[in-house]
This record gives sequence, C-alpha cells and structure tokens, in this order.
Amino acid sequence: MEKLIPEVVEAIIPFCEEHKVDIPVIAAGGIYTGADIHNFMQLGAAGVQMGTRFVATHECDAISAFKQSYIEARKEDLVIIKSPVGLPGRAIRNQFLSDVEEGRKKPFKCPYHCIISCNCTDSPYCIALALINAKKGKLKKGFAFAGDNAYRVDRIISVKEFDLVSAG
Ligand SMILES: Cc1cc2nc3c(=O)[nH]c(=O)nc-3n(C[C@H](O)[C@H](O)[C@H](O)COP(=O)(O)O)c2cc1C
Repeated sequence: MEKLIPEVVEAIIPFCEEHKVDIPVIAAGGIYTGADIHNFMQLGAAGVQMGTRFVATHECDAISAFKQSYIEARKEDLVIIKSPVGLPGRAIRNQFLSDVEEGRKKPFKCPYHCIISCNCTDSPYCIALALINAKKGKLKKGFAFAGDNAYRVDRIISVKEFDLVSAG
C-alpha cells in the first residue's frame, strides 16, 4: 500500500482539477498503529479506515467467540479464500474452511438468493449463512473474516488503551 497511495493520489489530480473538487483518498487494509496512520497520511492519504484493530475491544459489539478467534489466530491461519459468490476475502482458517478446501460440502437451502454470481446448487456452502453463524459465535458452522494483522491481536482491550504508536 506504500506504493499504491501515492499512485492513487497522483491519478486523481486530473479529476479533481476538471471537476473542481477535492477527492479524499482513504488508506485501508493492514493499518494497526499510530505510526501506520502517520505513514499513510504522509504519503498523501486524507485519512485511514481500520477494521481488524477494533474487533478485539470491549467496545466492539461482536460476540465473544468471534473476538476470541482473532486472539487465537496465528499468522499462518490468515488466508485468502474465494467465496462461493466469486469474491476473494481474507479469513481465519478453521475446521469449516479446511473441510470446504478438502471438498466436504456444507449442505444448505438457499434462504436469500442474494447475489446472481452464486450458483447455490453447486456452492459448497452459503457465505451468508456462514457469516451469520460466525456473527452468532457458531464458528463450527462458519468462519471469521479478518485483516492480515489479526494475528497481532492477543487480548481484548478497551479502545482507549490502544497504544497506537507501538504495535501493542
Ligand atoms: C469483521 C470484519 C468484517 C468485514 N466485512 C467486510 C465486508 O463485508 N465487505 C468488505 O468489502 N470488507 C469487509 N471487511 C474488510 C474491511 O474492509 C477491512 O477490514 C478494512 O479495509 C480495514 O482493514 P483492516 O481490517 O486491515 O484494518 C471486514 C473486516 C472485518 C474486520
């Protein structure tokens, strides 16, 4: 992303000039510390979006088992999967995902018909149901999406305890 931000900032200049608008560039993905925020803002980002860092906090309203999956995640557990609807996403590998990878299907009846790119008769599982199960803490019947810094999360803290300057 160190390379991408300056490229995007540069690329939008003609559009900003043509339309006389200021388009803010928001850096996102893998931002974890105050030093990261500073770095990307120095590179021209107007701000950052952070997700993963906030999951294992008291303030996050995710269920405890979901937060716990972040705490337990090791670096090698963070994998990019291709969801049944055809989109990639980074997830914490668990038994559910290993089963799917090894060809074991998770039978379901499609309740939502949510996206045309999903062929629900051939899909090994339903991504919507898997994510809803994870949200409910039923991680045997689903999995958690997470950013590539999730392995750095080692306990649940309060947002105000963030030492955003260091890695902790
Ligand atoms: C719990 C969780 C759920 C997410 N759900 C989505 C999603 O539905 N669609 C999407 O495009 N990105 C999703 N993301 C990815 C965020 O866009 C991504 O986390 C964000 O860019 C910040 O990156 P970071 O998590 O490394 O800080 C999710 C991230 C988390 C942590």
